[in-house]
Amino acid sequence: MRKNIVAGNWKMNTTVPEGIKLAQEVSQAVKAAGELKCDVIVGVPFPHLVPVCQALSGGPVAVAAENCADHDKGAYTGEVSAAMVASTGAQYVILGHSERRGYYNESIEMLKTKVDLALASGLRVIFCCGESLEERKAGTHFEVIKNELVGSLFHLSAEAFGQVVIAYEPIWAIGTGETATADQAEEIHAFIRQLVAEKYGAVVANDTTILYGGSCKPSNAPELFAKPDIDGGLIGGASLKAADFMGIVTAF
Ligand code: PGA
Repeated sequence: MRKNIVAGNWKMNTTVPEGIKLAQEVSQAVKAAGELKCDVIVGVPFPHLVPVCQALSGGPVAVAAENCADHDKGAYTGEVSAAMVASTGAQYVILGHSERRGYYNESIEMLKTKVDLALASGLRVIFCCGESLEERKAGTHFEVIKNELVGSLFHLSAEAFGQVVIAYEPIWAIGTGETATADQAEEIHAFIRQLVAEKYGAVVANDTTILYGGSCKPSNAPELFAKPDIDGGLIGGASLKAADFMGIVTAF
């Protein structure tokens, strides 16, 4: 049966010392909480990967990068490859976040390449998809999400796809305080699972973890996570304080 996951996405926040402290606070709180109904991941900026992986080594909290390059190595000044990320000890990489698609022009085709490079380096991928407010108002949100998944993921073998976690993040709910209702989110999650079933079969679809992201907080997490197709969350703002993040981790 599929895993529940709560993953933090710190984005461009915290200095290295602040990040190490936050990671340690999360790790201690997770240990103190005893048996949890979800896996816990922290998604951290590149400079934090090595010290945070060291600080969390052997513990219950896994580490994700927030991006990786679309080339495997070479003359790409300033870029960080999937292999570099994997060599830090990180187990996951977040790809396709709407901020990367929007501000850095990451295309469906480029993300396909990043997904392949990440998986080839042994990383698991947290793959984000989601529609803008305009797209939802125009009623094209199902089509937008389908295109993002088909274009960047559905070339994978079933085995490779098994290393992918999907995160549905409606752009209009990210950092805005506006959450999709649990019913709105569930509708899309069920749609995504159906797409996966059509491509890879019911067993794979049933094993696929699908996270919700967008203004998820301790107060709304229980209702979201109670839905049958919502298997946890990708958490931005509320992952920057250990207590808030733990309020979501323990929401199952
Ligand atoms: P938010 O961000 O929780 O601050 O809305 C979620 C995300 O962008 O992953």
